[in-house]
Amino acid sequence: MAGSATAGNDDGNGFTADILNDLQRIAVEESRLGIPFITGRDVIHGHLTVFPIPLGQAASWNPDTVRSGCRAAAVEASADGVHWTFSPMIDVSRDPRWGRMAESYGESPYLNAVLGVAAVEGYQGDDLSAPDSIAACAKHFVGYGAAEGGRDYNSTEISAATLYDVYLPPFEAVTHAQCQTFMTSFNEIGGIPSCANEPLIDGVLRKKWGFDGFVVTDWAAVWELIEHGVAADRHHASRQALGAGSDMDMCDSCYVDTLADLVASSAVDEQQIRQAARRIVTVKFRLGLFDRPYVAAGSVDRQPFRTAARASVAECAILLENNGILPLPSQPPLKQGNPGRELVGTIGVLGPMAHATKELFGTWTLDGVPEEVTSLAGALQQQLSDSWRVVTTTSQADSECSLVADSCDALVVVLGEHPSRSGEANSVANPGLPAGQEAFLTQMLDLNIPVIAVIISGRATVLPAAVKRCSALLFSFHPGSEGGLGLADVLTGRAEPGGRLPITLPRHQGQIPIYHDHKPTGRPRDEYHRSSMNPNGHRQSRLLDCPGSPLYRFGYGLTYTEFALAQSTISVQSDNSLQIETAVTNSGQRVGSMVLQVYVRPQVAETSQPVRRLIGHKRVTVGPGETTTEIITIPRESLAYHHRDGTRSVDPGRYDFFVGQHASDGEAMTIAIP
Ligand code: GLC
Repeated sequence: MAGSATAGNDDGNGFTADILNDLQRIAVEESRLGIPFITGRDVIHGHLTVFPIPLGQAASWNPDTVRSGCRAAAVEASADGVHWTFSPMIDVSRDPRWGRMAESYGESPYLNAVLGVAAVEGYQGDDLSAPDSIAACAKHFVGYGAAEGGRDYNSTEISAATLYDVYLPPFEAVTHAQCQTFMTSFNEIGGIPSCANEPLIDGVLRKKWGFDGFVVTDWAAVWELIEHGVAADRHHASRQALGAGSDMDMCDSCYVDTLADLVASSAVDEQQIRQAARRIVTVKFRLGLFDRPYVAAGSVDRQPFRTAARASVAECAILLENNGILPLPSQPPLKQGNPGRELVGTIGVLGPMAHATKELFGTWTLDGVPEEVTSLAGALQQQLSDSWRVVTTTSQADSECSLVADSCDALVVVLGEHPSRSGEANSVANPGLPAGQEAFLTQMLDLNIPVIAVIISGRATVLPAAVKRCSALLFSFHPGSEGGLGLADVLTGRAEPGGRLPITLPRHQGQIPIYHDHKPTGRPRDEYHRSSMNPNGHRQSRLLDCPGSPLYRFGYGLTYTEFALAQSTISVQSDNSLQIETAVTNSGQRVGSMVLQVYVRPQVAETSQPVRRLIGHKRVTVGPGETTTEIITIPRESLAYHHRDGTRSVDPGRYDFFVGQHASDGEAMTIAIP
């Protein structure tokens, strides 16, 4: 529903059940056919209760968390008259300059597929016709995240192998999860803009995968065929898009204004329009809109959703450094050398995001309730003030901050980016911290007071080397409504940091693109040494002025305890699936969770394959001092890749598997696959 010229993505455009019921009454009771309309809205990571942005949810590596967050969104949004959400966005994202990586589930095709399916299940529920189910929309089909230079809407250069092995797999996965709608992307692949790409829409999506919902074009993508230079005018654009299988033109009116002419001139067969209309009406039937076109009045108990949102903040928070200062003790430690002093320690909470509230929502938040948000500073004051003295200032003036900091035993320095610096059309040349923040962090570090840095961002921010001087470093993608409370839960130990990076954090922006499942090249780089020769004695693919390793690896994250993995075993099962068995020991003092990750590399393949590709994982919670044996089953088809003849299949042969806690952990386990 275009509440204004911004179809469903307008903040606070009076999108209420009453308004929608009034409009629906016109459609149902006054129009010729009485077909109810379908209301779509960008319910991207929550409706009234805002969950972490999708890139943040990806850090949980937990489909249950994603599913329940999307279920909460469906319940709240459907009560306001939303029938259809333009989510999940499952564009594999590898470039931190691209603002929209905030909306994706990161750089792994596997993780985008697993979490995309969970999102569809959450939105659509067990019964699509139930009043609190909404249709999902997989977007943006396809390859939007490959925008050259990370510049939004830009051209892409995607080989067939990368298209079929990286960008398409998440979309195939959600098709088989009965996702009801797809949205085509703005970009072109091989010069064909997606909304006019018949081989992909009709060929792959419908005929090969069996998709039986409807396809909507993004925004003004039909009209943009003219800008792409592939359509002479709006009639020509409409004919191409409809012919390719794009059923609904979102909001540039090309279809409305030209299809009648095109049928009259026989440029378009009326049956094409009937087919498109039938697909859309079919989804409306599945949603129960013909039986129940109006939104029933009623209220939603949101407390369970707010509780879940707060728990997800901690599960998605990624602890990157910790010298033991975290979790903050409930009682301040005795002052060294002054044991008689009362137990009052002072913590300073400073920085440009310390008092952020609605900024914690993140991009694509249309219906969040700012008044419900507690800042991190406020949350720490609530949680610590009965034993610590918590001081803060909203001032950004260095002098004021230094004055406040001087009286402190430790500092929580809260940095990061405003959500307007991420999301659609918000790509940046420099994906580092916003201007001035590195200097501020250094100034605080130079006070020689322990610094706990908390960085809140919408992208894989390139962090300054100064973060290695911090006593602790907690990274959170924009955490949503309960972000301040949830992050305080982590800092005070009420909850553990459960996040693992769903995206590689570069050491330097000059390394971009840098991601875990890169190809080896003929000159494999030895990531930790800056010698010109690699271990094979060959000159290697490297940069002269920067090591080849990222600052923090895909899959990485610390906890408040320690985990040790015994050597895994791997075996081929009777159904040809793979079974990996690993003993996980929690050698610390606290219960904790970790993410067991499985990567693979064929020793030889018909085409060059990634050095490591994530193909399985499992979140594991283990009590202190306990050991648990975990089994991960990998379907054989997970090993498929795009062959030179265009087929996607699994080769028998020898494969190296790696089981560990991040993308470079674990030794190779070699096994022959039949
Ligand atoms: C925007 C976005 C798309 C969104 C749509 C409707 O341009 O590309 O993701 O769902 O328009 O707001």
